[in-house]
Amino acid sequence: MKHYILGTVAALALAGAAEAQQRIVIGTTTSATSHYGVGAEAFIAKLAELSDGAFVGEQAPAGQLGGERDLIEGLQIGSVDMAISSSGPLGNFVPEVFALDLPFLFRDYDHARKVLDGEIGQELLAKVDENNLVGLAWAENGFRHVTNSQRPILTPEDLGGIKLRTMENRVHMAAFTGMGASPTPMAFPELFGALQQGVVDGQENPITVITASKFWEVQKYVSLTGHVYSPAIILASPALIDGLTEEQKGWFYEAAKVGVEANRAEVNRLEAEGVALLRENGMEVITDIDKAPFAALAEESAYAVYTDEYGTEMIDRIKAVE
Ligand code: PAF
Repeated sequence: MKHYILGTVAALALAGAAEAQQRIVIGTTTSATSHYGVGAEAFIAKLAELSDGAFVGEQAPAGQLGGERDLIEGLQIGSVDMAISSSGPLGNFVPEVFALDLPFLFRDYDHARKVLDGEIGQELLAKVDENNLVGLAWAENGFRHVTNSQRPILTPEDLGGIKLRTMENRVHMAAFTGMGASPTPMAFPELFGALQQGVVDGQENPITVITASKFWEVQKYVSLTGHVYSPAIILASPALIDGLTEEQKGWFYEAAKVGVEANRAEVNRLEAEGVALLRENGMEVITDIDKAPFAALAEESAYAVYTDEYGTEMIDRIKAVE
């Protein structure tokens, strides 16, 4: 009898704890083990630790909740709790962010991380927050490179006639029009099938994504053009964050920092090991590329699209960060 009573009390306590737990779903478009997945898992573990198990996170990876535009819309209406997304479609919701999508703007990873971790990154997160979203932290996708099924790309002329999938981002599209490709915007979850069926010939993404998505199954050539840095962002829904206490909000921001560290460490690892993996899987990797002619054309076209609306101030500030 005693055991029975204790058992009941324990069961009630457990039920209470389970009820007090809040489930947080984090949507991404890449696989659960990708650089975003690694970041999401580190976030989930840190949030559980800080909240003593009150928040239980889980991933909805690989486009289960849709493409990145869908994720952002879902965050705004509260049907998605959290997401890790590239900046790709974000400028359509927070135009100031388009500055980060300009080609050949960031010199290297150190430069990009300094900008995003510094004053400019904070200012842009505040702009995100003004648009019915909560930007917890800047994470990373990586420098983007061109892959295709037709030929090695060594010069802008080689891009001629290549139907290239781009993100739904007008700065990127202008850059590729300038460089001579035929840009076709498309949500990422549709991309593998489109490459397989020859709807598009190529795409551009960082090594992180090319490896996680096993694009070697549908693409032969990778040219390390590094034409644009692709930031990512850990986003939450205002519907989620507004319902938290100040202490709980603090946990989300702290866990996001840990998520970013893990995500960047995975980007570093794949930058170091990814090219070998692409070659092992049969891709021809073109490393020796003169980027100057690509940069001249991309800058001419993409910068005009941006500066016509927003001027040059942000560009100058980003370039000045040492
Ligand atoms: O190409 C894209 O759409 C993005 O780089 C991706 C793969 C969804 C990661 O953010």
